[in-house]
Amino acid sequence: VAIEKGNYRHFMQKEIFEQPTVVAQTLRSYLRPGEQRVALPQIDFDISAIDRITIVACGTSYYAGMVAKYWFEQFARVPVDIDFASEFRYRDPILTPGGLALFISQSGETADTLAALKHCKANGQVIASVVNVPTSSMARESDLLLPTHAGPEIGVASTKAFTCQLAVLAALAAHFAVKKGLMDREEEAEVVKHLLEAPASLNAALDHDDEIADMAHLIAPARDVLYLGRGADFPLALEGALKLKEISYIHAEGYASGEMKHGPIALIDDAVPVIVLAPSGPLFEKTVSNMQEVQARGGKVVLISDADGIAQAGEGCMAVIEMPKVHPLIAPLVYAVPVQLLAYHVAVAKGTDVDQPRNLAKSVTVE
Ligand code: G6P
Repeated sequence: VAIEKGNYRHFMQKEIFEQPTVVAQTLRSYLRPGEQRVALPQIDFDISAIDRITIVACGTSYYAGMVAKYWFEQFARVPVDIDFASEFRYRDPILTPGGLALFISQSGETADTLAALKHCKANGQVIASVVNVPTSSMARESDLLLPTHAGPEIGVASTKAFTCQLAVLAALAAHFAVKKGLMDREEEAEVVKHLLEAPASLNAALDHDDEIADMAHLIAPARDVLYLGRGADFPLALEGALKLKEISYIHAEGYASGEMKHGPIALIDDAVPVIVLAPSGPLFEKTVSNMQEVQARGGKVVLISDADGIAQAGEGCMAVIEMPKVHPLIAPLVYAVPVQLLAYHVAVAKGTDVDQPRNLAKSVTVE
């Protein structure tokens, strides 16, 4: 069946807008809303015995893995190692028996990730994979297949596969916590409730499309852009920078907000837009003080936060993008939307080939 763009100008745009639907679709196979429980596919190994997780992936899928590390460690107290697939085998990783190796891939075919999977299999790891193509090589090689139900993703820059990966990984981390006796029924019900709020919050984030399109003209002339975030939203800063590089060809870097002062602050002047991802919450104050260090040096800030955050810190920013107020668990899903839209509209403003950016491939099947 040919996949059509419908009323959208680009596949990437269509895929960004599909996220509320496909995330809901994905969550349906990992949650039982009626019972307020997390429900995973039949697992024939003992989760409570797993004392270490190794996550391996590339590109956007790697950033989903980085977010998942926060969740596995926070909820299930399992230490997580994470590597780029292209680096993994070459550091001679220590793989102790009983570890779980988790591979994240839209295509299920990325050569480096597949090679890492085979290496882990040969070294006694239980193999789980979060893939969007259930007939892929990674899917076939896995003990535990955790499909994302994003549907075919055509745009080279990954969008909907990412948020669906996050949905699966959040459910998986909660499941681990339950099995390890670290999450009681009430806490599990809370997690389910917050995850089920994600589709509506993604919709609310998408409502800012026009505003972000207008703002894109402020970013399009820049030569460099910085993205800052903290905690589980730090990987979103990396993902935001990656999206911008991929499709608009503007140099961008993602940084952990607190690490700014150890280098990148030297780059700040009024020609470098700084995109700050800062949902209100326990890490907000700290991020804002990093943001103010940027402003004090003439940096032009775009603050992406909720109404509370913007009321507290929006003054003096070049622009603000208001996200719905969400539970920290789903913030990485919701904050993916404005960074995707910003990259998209900057690319459109620059007239690049959004769906087929130069030098990039949808699936990289060479190592
Ligand atoms: C390519 C794509 C990216 C993707 C990465 C990993 O570089 O252009 O969008 O994130 O591969 O692909 P995978 O299919 O393994 O998630």
